[in-house]
Amino acid sequence: MLKIAVLVSGGGTNLQALIDAEKAGKIKNGTIVKVIASKDGAYALTRAENAGIETAVVARKSFENPDDYDKALLSELKKCGADLVVLAGFLSILGETVISEYENKIINIHPSLIPSFCGNGCYGLKVHEMALEKGVKVTGATVHFVNLIPDGGAIILQKAVEIKNGDTPEVLQRRVMENAEWEILPKAVSLFCEGKIKVTGNTTVVED
Ligand code: GRF
Repeated sequence: MLKIAVLVSGGGTNLQALIDAEKAGKIKNGTIVKVIASKDGAYALTRAENAGIETAVVARKSFENPDDYDKALLSELKKCGADLVVLAGFLSILGETVISEYENKIINIHPSLIPSFCGNGCYGLKVHEMALEKGVKVTGATVHFVNLIPDGGAIILQKAVEIKNGDTPEVLQRRVMENAEWEILPKAVSLFCEGKIKVTGNTTVVED
């Protein structure tokens, strides 16, 4: 049984999808052992506590030096023996210290079809504002491994979502969450824990 640590910063709807999937037996060979928030008061912490999952706060703003933040995160991950780290609405940047220790063992959910609308500064609602601004007819979500390039790691799963006339960024964000994020993140986590994701270079082959 692999141990999963989930890093959060906000409302935690993706964390909730993982918690519900585990409860429904949809995460094979994996269990969430810890939720770590980058800021106090993140509602994701309440979701974890309600599910009886251990929590910790490693507040990004408490660290002047990004390396010290990375080291503090790494020590929390080591303490719980995490085999897999899942970034679920996590808004801080991970540095070399954590990424090198967990090469191809950190998974992130991004609310677009990478390589569109991703990279530095593209997160949360901004991603949907960019998609609407560009006038794309289809967007979606991507689950990928994390490396030192923001949203640059090997893609694991993607799911497309149609944009509708009159969509606002908020309406679109909700549809992408409901129809894509909350489905492919638990699925990718289960595939990882089942050993069904093979990484070659910067791409993956995922067993059906
Ligand atoms: C979502 O748009 C997700 O795609 C992005 O962070 C936002 C909030 O996620 N990664 P959550 O509700 O905190 O899981």
